[in-house]
Amino acid sequence: MRIIHRLGELRKARAALGRGKLALVPTMGALHEGHLTLVREARQLAEHVAVSIFVNPRQFGANEDLDAYPRQLERDCALLEPEGVELVWAPLPAEMYPEGYATTVSVSGVSQGLCGAARPGHFDGVATVVCKLFNQVEPEVALFGEKDWQQLAVIRRMARDLDLPRPAEIVGVPTVREADGLALSSRNAYLSPDDRARAAVLPAAMKKAIAEISGGTPVAEALERLTVALLAGGFASVDYAELRDADDFALLVERPTAPARLLVAARIGGTRLIDNMAV
Ligand code: PAJ
Repeated sequence: MRIIHRLGELRKARAALGRGKLALVPTMGALHEGHLTLVREARQLAEHVAVSIFVNPRQFGANEDLDAYPRQLERDCALLEPEGVELVWAPLPAEMYPEGYATTVSVSGVSQGLCGAARPGHFDGVATVVCKLFNQVEPEVALFGEKDWQQLAVIRRMARDLDLPRPAEIVGVPTVREADGLALSSRNAYLSPDDRARAAVLPAAMKKAIAEISGGTPVAEALERLTVALLAGGFASVDYAELRDADDFALLVERPTAPARLLVAARIGGTRLIDNMAV
């Protein structure tokens, strides 16, 4: 496994990989079983696997956790080595955004609302860095978690709109969860033991809301009960709790007739957690 910090070196290593497809798993590090599940899926889909580890400053807002975000490259690499990863692309910020860097990729529509509303500029930062990662690594396949449903939609839209030749395929991987249902996230590490225990109310309340909506409870009522359950369960605030069409992302206020998605973001003990589930 090669750990690469410079673009010139990456291009050489990419060219030297030889025959077979390359899959890329983009990450910001602080790897957990969710990331490793993407890596294992990548190995099923391609002969070679590359993982990028880059805490992308452009997708963090001014008051967000850029400085606090966990950075643990050595530990991450130790987790990736036994998974058969060949390349780890870990550029420094100055390599990704050198002096004079001036270009932003902005995806309208799917970037608006939900996390786009709560975190202005966030998806521009994501689309910009992922576009660059695709051009740097030139993978045949790239894998992303459904945990970040809106992010996945933004990236699919961006790749289609810009006619990106690589990757030819973007694969979404179902969310990996703890035994109590909480979606794995690098940000779970910020939670105190008490808040961590309370956080399981999020997936539980979402499942309940989905059962209610499926059972005929009006959408607005089910979402209101979901919000109340989160606040009663120890969450400080709810950024959003919305039902959206799974394909075109349209906001749904009536019981869905096509595949839909329940998406929630809520804050507990200063940490913002997101989750989404099929309806
Ligand atoms: P990061 O939060 O490190 O996540 C990297 C990838 O792992 C994303 O595709 C994310 O959806 C996926 N992932 C995270 N938790 C998961 C879980 N519990 N189950 C399944 N997949 C999970 O998302 C980012 O980084 C960045 O925005 C990035 C795309 C790398 C651009 O900077």
